[in-house]
Amino acid sequence: MAFRHHTNSKQSRRWLGWLALLLALGAALAAFGWYQLFREEPQHFDSVEAYYRYGSIGTESEEGLPYWVWRVLPGLFPQHLPGEGEDEGYAALGIVWEEGEPTPVGFSLKTIGFPRIGINCAACHTATYRTAADGERRIVPTGPHQTFDPQAYLRFLGDAAADPDFTADTLLAAIQEETELSWLDRLLYRFLIIPRTRDGLREQAERFAWTEERPRWGPGRIDPFNPVKFHPDLLALDPAEDDTIGNSDIMALWAMDAQEGHALHWDGLNDSLTEVVLSGAIGDGARPDSLPVEALEELAAYLRHQRPPPYPFLDTLDRQMASRGEVLFEETCAGCHGPDGARTGTVIPQAEVGTDRHRLAMWTAEAAERYNAYAEEYPWDFDAFVKTDGYVAKPLTGLWLRAPYLHNGSVPTIEDLLRPTEQRPEVFYRGYDVYHPARLGFIHTGEAAKRYGFRYDTREPGNGNAGHEYGTELPAEDRDALVEYLKTL
Ligand code: HEC
Ligand code: HEC
Repeated sequence: MAFRHHTNSKQSRRWLGWLALLLALGAALAAFGWYQLFREEPQHFDSVEAYYRYGSIGTESEEGLPYWVWRVLPGLFPQHLPGEGEDEGYAALGIVWEEGEPTPVGFSLKTIGFPRIGINCAACHTATYRTAADGERRIVPTGPHQTFDPQAYLRFLGDAAADPDFTADTLLAAIQEETELSWLDRLLYRFLIIPRTRDGLREQAERFAWTEERPRWGPGRIDPFNPVKFHPDLLALDPAEDDTIGNSDIMALWAMDAQEGHALHWDGLNDSLTEVVLSGAIGDGARPDSLPVEALEELAAYLRHQRPPPYPFLDTLDRQMASRGEVLFEETCAGCHGPDGARTGTVIPQAEVGTDRHRLAMWTAEAAERYNAYAEEYPWDFDAFVKTDGYVAKPLTGLWLRAPYLHNGSVPTIEDLLRPTEQRPEVFYRGYDVYHPARLGFIHTGEAAKRYGFRYDTREPGNGNAGHEYGTELPAEDRDALVEYLKTL
């Protein structure tokens, strides 16, 4: 018995040894897998502005793409890019890419196992302008983007993933021309990363299928909250039971200190900058566990202090006219838009201001309730989402660079806004970033605007240009004086 017992325990010790070895191998493999797929490398930036342009807001793990796959897509699938302009690659989608940078402005490169790319606030909240077609393109972080077409970007990614040529062979061959992947990386890309990316992009395209039946966003606009409302992991509302159109113009984020305590967003759906910043990141694809809460707090401080550039043709300003215009502004506009206006930063009922009602209807009481109940177990949490009945009268800081105007970007210039609805342009082109030297707005008619821009038809649902007829009864010379003053804001 003793003998047998002895053998048994020897045998089991041997088995235990094998098991330990196996476990160790398994653990090594798991650690290796984790390292290759999930280890996070911190990013470093010299300034908060550099972070704003290129830093991570936590979107890479959930909705990020493998950087090298992303890099080669436009070259492999040019047929899925919009093609009337002369810009190539991602520039055809109005994306701005500075010389020598690994990613465009508004795109962050972060290693989570392997290099991934995700969008950040600057993808939408960065303005560009040129003072002449052959002039230098100026990049203004925190301004509203004029040229980026987020919907076309989503469609491009979806169409590329649906293309039969989206295969490991084609992609790896193209990647190999850009960078040297190790044999191990090639295996991972072939069997894991590329198939998973293709499936993820196809799923994303399906999640946005509801956009196919609604009017196009076009450059400089998105439907900001329907994607959040309909996302199964976010507010989980059903697009089949909700035909709202939220198409809305990207807003400027400079001088947020002047909006302390104001209702934020076009309809004033939340008055806490912290909540708006965090929910902005979630809307872009960050999730509670990937949200860099502290970095986003710093970013909010940056938004408070950032200032817009001055109107670029100030040397042509008629100062006397502008000071006459200032008096008119005080009389007709300041109560709603002036720094001390009684109604500045408050919601003006839609029935009163009379502008397009679709964006307002898109945000519902149920959506507000669900967002307030989201992420309850986290220290930051949301509580300030509300449903309102109108649009906010904003301070007009940096007004010249916020064209086209109104919440849906339906009026191309300030001169047009100061005319009755019937006299405002019914159709124009938006997305061409050459500024008009006199009109307080971008060039929105003519060949170049047509070639580079998006045809904006004010008769489409959500695109209406009616309402806000303040100042439209001013005599022509007063209107000109007011426009002259508005150039200085
Ligand atoms: C895909 C484009 C897009 C991205 C990316 C984006 N935003 Fe926005 N943002 C918008 C649009 C469009 C609006 C206006 C939405 C509305 O109310 O209709 C807006 C509104 C805002 C406002 C309200 C401003 C005001 O004056 O009321 C703030 C603040 C803001 N965004 C911050 C951010 C921050 C911070 C990030 C990054 C974490 C971010 N956004 C990312 C498109 C975007
Ligand atoms: C009763 C309040 C009220 C008065 C008076 C008023 N506005 Fe407004 N204004 C608003 C509201 C509300 C909005 C947002 C409407 C929307 O986007 O649908 C707005 C939007 C604007 C915008 C668009 C801003 C942007 O970023 O696109 C401009 C420009 C503007 N107003 C200029 C003026 C001028 C100039 C006057 C005076 C002639 C004036 N407003 C008078 C309430 C007012």
